Amino acid sequence: MASSQTLITLFIFSLLSFSCAATGPPKLPKPKAIHLPIRKHQTTLQYFTTYKSGHTELPTIIDALIDLGSPSVWFDCTSYVSSSYKQTSCGSNKCKKAKGSSSCLTCYSTPRPGCSNNTCGIFVYNPIPNYLSIQELGEDTITVYSTDGAYVWFSYDLPKFQFACVDSVTADRLPGDNTKGLVGLARNEISLPSQISSFFKLAKKFALCLPSSSENGLGDIFIGGGPYYMLPSIEDQSLSLVTTPLVFNPINGPRLLSDGELSYQYFINLKNIEISGKPVTFSPSLLSFDTNGIGGTKISTTSPYTILHSSIYKPLVQDFIKEASLNKIKRVQSVAPFGACFDSKTVPKTITGPAVPNIDLVLEGSSVRMRLYGANSMVEAKKNVICLAFIDGGGQPTTSIVLGGHQLENYVLEFDLTASTLGLSSSLLLQNTSCSHSRVY
Ligand SMILES: *[C@@H]1O[C@H](CO)[C@@H](O)[C@H](O)[C@H]1NC(C)=O
Ligand SMILES: *[C@@H]1O[C@H](CO)[C@@H](O)[C@H](O)[C@H]1NC(C)=O
Repeated sequence: MASSQTLITLFIFSLLSFSCAATGPPKLPKPKAIHLPIRKHQTTLQYFTTYKSGHTELPTIIDALIDLGSPSVWFDCTSYVSSSYKQTSCGSNKCKKAKGSSSCLTCYSTPRPGCSNNTCGIFVYNPIPNYLSIQELGEDTITVYSTDGAYVWFSYDLPKFQFACVDSVTADRLPGDNTKGLVGLARNEISLPSQISSFFKLAKKFALCLPSSSENGLGDIFIGGGPYYMLPSIEDQSLSLVTTPLVFNPINGPRLLSDGELSYQYFINLKNIEISGKPVTFSPSLLSFDTNGIGGTKISTTSPYTILHSSIYKPLVQDFIKEASLNKIKRVQSVAPFGACFDSKTVPKTITGPAVPNIDLVLEGSSVRMRLYGANSMVEAKKNVICLAFIDGGGQPTTSIVLGGHQLENYVLEFDLTASTLGLSSSLLLQNTSCSHSRVY
């Protein structure tokens, strides 16, 4: 097993071999993977990343909301200045590849990035105010960083990166502080991971490690595959992922793409939910798609908590309360929007959070389950009160189960778009580590 000492020695060695190799700036090796950081914003409970866009001498720093379910990257171009920016013409091949609209955009104000004529327009979706519009498709150089799975190393230019240069109305109500845009991680050609993998010829996969807080360090988006090191643990998490198929919903999601296009969002086949090993009883038909694409289970980074169809939520809460009382956990008055809250003084603390009954999400595949311990199933709603961190989605949600951020934190989730699988680590908390790190060496 590689110790962190060996890793560090290898890095220093490779750094030295560059500086000796040539005169002038050394040519960087092809990156093995690209890394972007993830910050959690404690008020909105949303996840953000940062990257640089524009002419490399004077790039603009973009703080962007991360949305697993969005197909494009976009930001507010109102004050964007970059000599390398180019808008995409309507009807061009690039426009078609990006599934741009067939009509051309026209703009009657002063020409600037985001305001031009005969321009390709693409659908842009802002999930938080749930706002859909058509905006200018453009391209520019962005700066990204390579990683070896443990540290972040060199910066690389990615020219002709495609994104939508949007108006201030679209970007206006983005959550967070100084948020300029959004990075979509969906399964389509112009999402952030697809463009990065294709430019650097990396594997078509990416992994997320969502932090529960950014106080002690940032989380990760790894693009191009492992290894994934979650220091201080020296295990490569990519070697111990269990996998479940990513399934296609032909209908669901905001209908941005033409009819018959497979959904670009990430659905999995959840087969059952167990509390302390006992199955929760609800209609299994909720777990598959009906002919209108309603039902099923999807993964979302913009829902702070998992949202369940009422017919799943109610039995889940009842069974959890029953199991909690068997464990002598005292129930207290509920704190909205949660349905079951407990006196945290009656719950012992463990390395994986409060010692409450485990909730297992049983997934397709041989013995694939995602075990939620207290850190992922409970949230502190106020002093000495912890609540079951699931939300009632009502009786007619589009998707029966939307797995949200709180339940996904401190796991490694690897989306392999070639194999169409989701790889899952066990809770990193079990290994005395988390998704909060410094990766600056
Ligand atoms: C686009 O064309 C219209 C009509 O010809 C013109 O008034 C307008 O100024 C043009 N816009 C830009 C940004 O060049
Ligand atoms: C985690 O830490 C605890 C106590 O600090 C220790 O008992 C346990 O062996 C550690 N587990 C691992 C996987 O390192």
